[in-house]
Amino acid sequence: MTTTPSLSSDAEATASTPQNIPRHLAIIMDGNGRWAKKRGWNRVRGHEEGAESVRVAVRTSRRLGVGWLTLYAFSEENWARPQAEVTALMKLLNRFLKKERQEMLERGIRLNAIGEIEKLPKATRELLHKTMADTAGGRDMVLSLALSYGGRQEIIRAARLLAEEARTGLLDPAAIDENTLASRLFTADMPDPDLLIRTSGEQRISNFLPWQLAYTEFYFTEILWPDFREAQLIEALNSYSQRQRRFGRTGDQLEAEANG
Ligand code: FPP
Repeated sequence: MTTTPSLSSDAEATASTPQNIPRHLAIIMDGNGRWAKKRGWNRVRGHEEGAESVRVAVRTSRRLGVGWLTLYAFSEENWARPQAEVTALMKLLNRFLKKERQEMLERGIRLNAIGEIEKLPKATRELLHKTMADTAGGRDMVLSLALSYGGRQEIIRAARLLAEEARTGLLDPAAIDENTLASRLFTADMPDPDLLIRTSGEQRISNFLPWQLAYTEFYFTEILWPDFREAQLIEALNSYSQRQRRFGRTGDQLEAEANG
C-alpha cells in the first residue's frame, strides 16, 4: 500500500505560494481593540497579539519576495487615544524593535520609518534611529513603519518644501510635476504600493498614503488584525495574483501587449 507523504509546513507554504507577488505591500492593521473586547480583555492585549501578527507579516513577506512592506502602526490621529493606550503602543514598539533587530539583520531587512517621528517619545525615537542605522545594509526587504503618520499632513509638508524652494529661486513652479511632488514625500525612494490590505471589515484608507495609493489594488477582509496570520496573508496575495491591473488602459490592449 502506498501512502501519500504529508507535506511539511515549508512544502505546504511553497505549494500555495502566490504567482504574482506585489513589489510593495501596504497594510492597515485594524481590529486589535475589537479582538480584545470580544474576549472581555483590555485593548492593550489586542495590540500585543497584533504585534505577533506584525512579526508573521514581516517574515512571510520577506520569504515570498515582497520588496517593500509598509505598515500603518500609529497614525497622526492615534495621539488622541487615551494616554495609557498611547504609552502601551510605544512600549510595544520599543519591544518589537529590540526583539526583531537580530532577525532583521539576519534576513536582510532594512528598517525605515515614515511620518512625523520627531513627535515620538525620546526613547522610542532613539531606538528607531539606532535600528534604522544598524539595518541600513539590508538589501532584501524594506520594512517601513508609518508612525505619527498622516497622509494629508505629508502632502502639506511636501507643498511647504516646494514653496520654500520656489521662494528661494531653486525651483520653477511651472516645472512642478508628479515626480517633483512625490520626491518630497516621506516615501520618496519607494515605489507606490501595488496592494493595500485592510483588516477588520472597515473599507476606507483613513489618511494612509492617499497620494501613493492612486493606482493600488485594495483587499479588504473581515478578519481582525490579531487573527491575520500567514494563511490569511497568502489568501490576500492569491487574490492580488488574479487581478489585472490596467492603469487606465483596456484589457484588450494589455493582452495584445502580453502576446507580442
Ligand atoms: C488598530 O486597531 C491598530 C492600531 C492603532 C495600532 C497598530 C499596532 C499594532 C499592530 C501593534 C504594535 C505595532 C508594532 C509595529 C509592533 P484598533 O486599536 O483601532 O482596533 P479597533 O478598531 O478594533 O478598536
